[in-house]
Amino acid sequence: MLDARHSIRTHTCGALGAPDIGANVTLAGWVHRRRDHGGLIFVDLRDRSGIVQCTFGPEVAEAFATAERLRPEWVVELVGEVRRRPEGTENPEMVTGEVEVEVSSVTVLNNAETPPFEVEDGIDTDETTRLRYRYIDIRRPEMLGALLLRDRVTQRFRRALEDRGFIEVETPILTKSTPEGARDFIVPSRMNAGKFYALPQSPQLFKQLLMVAGMDRYYQIARCFRDEDLRADRQPEFTQVDIEMSFCTQDHVLDLMEEVMAEVMDGVGVEWPSEIERMTYADAMDRYGSDRPDTRFGMEIACLGSVFSSSEFKVFAGALASGGRIKGINATGCGGWSRGKIDALNQLAIDSGAKGLAWVAFGSDGEVRSPVAKFFSEAEMDGLREALALEPGDLALIVADQHDVANEVLGVLRTELAETLGLHADGLHPLWVVDFPLLKWDADEDRWTAVHHPFTRPFDEHLEQLEEDPGSALSFSYDLVINGLEIGGGTLRVHDRALQERLLRVMGIGAEEAADKFGFLLDALSHGAPPHGGIALGFDRLVMILGGGKSIRDVIAFPKTSSGACPLTGAPDTVSARQLKEVHVSAD
Ligand code: AMO
Ligand code: AMP
Repeated sequence: MLDARHSIRTHTCGALGAPDIGANVTLAGWVHRRRDHGGLIFVDLRDRSGIVQCTFGPEVAEAFATAERLRPEWVVELVGEVRRRPEGTENPEMVTGEVEVEVSSVTVLNNAETPPFEVEDGIDTDETTRLRYRYIDIRRPEMLGALLLRDRVTQRFRRALEDRGFIEVETPILTKSTPEGARDFIVPSRMNAGKFYALPQSPQLFKQLLMVAGMDRYYQIARCFRDEDLRADRQPEFTQVDIEMSFCTQDHVLDLMEEVMAEVMDGVGVEWPSEIERMTYADAMDRYGSDRPDTRFGMEIACLGSVFSSSEFKVFAGALASGGRIKGINATGCGGWSRGKIDALNQLAIDSGAKGLAWVAFGSDGEVRSPVAKFFSEAEMDGLREALALEPGDLALIVADQHDVANEVLGVLRTELAETLGLHADGLHPLWVVDFPLLKWDADEDRWTAVHHPFTRPFDEHLEQLEEDPGSALSFSYDLVINGLEIGGGTLRVHDRALQERLLRVMGIGAEEAADKFGFLLDALSHGAPPHGGIALGFDRLVMILGGGKSIRDVIAFPKTSSGACPLTGAPDTVSARQLKEVHVSAD
């Protein structure tokens, strides 16, 4: 609740109600709406806490005359008495709908131009205009509500973490490149000609150094900067709830986060399970075709290899012979879909990397339509029905390809079908995806790169295979996924210098480059580094999902557009030739 003290006010608008009847109040805020009813003028006065109706009668001549001039968004101070609204004029839709303020005097604190859009929810105004006038946009209840929710979630995280012995430490913004896989924003140094700072992609290396420093448990509501292409869930600067702890196993981190999340959700009144399911990366890919499965609906991917082990269909036989898989999903209830709709799925499968999509549609009358069923024996059709739990009215979608291609394509189809069919259950469905591979092959860079980041600890029993078969080593790693969105990620770290150097070598980072980029971390690892690990939650994404929003821009006070611009300030902007020269970016 907004505290009216330390202000010219005695009360705030949204808190007035029946208990205040008879009170003399001073309010201050914005004119939300003014209605002239002949002898009486009504002004809805708004502040952050809400809206209250104020009345001006002709008997208070001066106030009445001022009220006649008031326009939307003018800023005023009102003095008056709270009274019960006359019978029949109460407004049950309004929190303050039982009362009104009979105004005795009014002072105009400031006037305002006609706002570019109405201060109301559900406006049909383009986003650039909203961002250009963000200070007006934030007056709208949905934007204000999002920022209030954001604040409450922040406070709850702080409390839950402080209660568990975490210490907030700020880490530098002007720093050296931190490898989270995106491009850096760089800042030229005036005092060091030709040198640049990088803005941190995350506080990763500093939080590890804090563990070496003996901080034991660190957190930070940290701003991160990544120069990557923007989308609804990505901003060039965003916020993480960044956490690191010493002397812990993977289960310690996950258990602690489950406690913290449950406490935060409880604090903001969001339903949340007390335990979160843990699924291995391999399982997530096999069953959902994604490392961030949306578990708000089923439609799991099934393996059809044993059904079609001796198939006459050359596509299936060929896939199995070359070590691939035959996998499928049941598009439940889509058996009656037109050829056109199924062809669109086929195109989506091909666009996602498949060579084709085999399908069998089962009409509700038992009729079977399919371009490929003619190649299937009766036993294979029975096996297919059983493996995918197909009923009349269902549609089987099958992809034969390399393991990961088959999974990923079906994962895309599954996501698309859920959207089309509206299969998403309500509420939040969190999931831990654990045990990611340590490394993946990067064909562009022609080297192995880290799936999470290069400081992730491999499973001890997989150390032996690091050089011979780098792709097969798994790591202590975990992502928090909610409703198919990656909300957070973390790992246990390498705390042994020799192992860290070895891993960098496997990733094609030679001793010289390693010393240049991460020498300070390697040094720290040889000065008493405890075993440690941590996690970072994408705070904007979390608040977005809690508020039911579609874009993280809606939970950030002053976000950037998709081209990285700020329509309000005009950033990014040009700078003077003198400034460029001062920072040694140009010679003249
Ligand atoms: P990671 O890179 O997975 O991990 O980032 C953690 C979480 O941050 C969110 N996120 C973003 N949110 C908005 N805009 C972006 N551009 C953006 N990029 C990432 C995601 C993501 O899950 N240092 C490691 C964490 C660790 O290992 O402790 C890290 O930064 O929700
Ligand atoms: P084709 O033999 O290429 O004419 O393909 C016959 C049918 O099988 C078509 O409906 C294709 O979409 C489908 N198909 C082709 N390749 C694959 C594949 N790898 N997996 C599943 N279906 C496929």
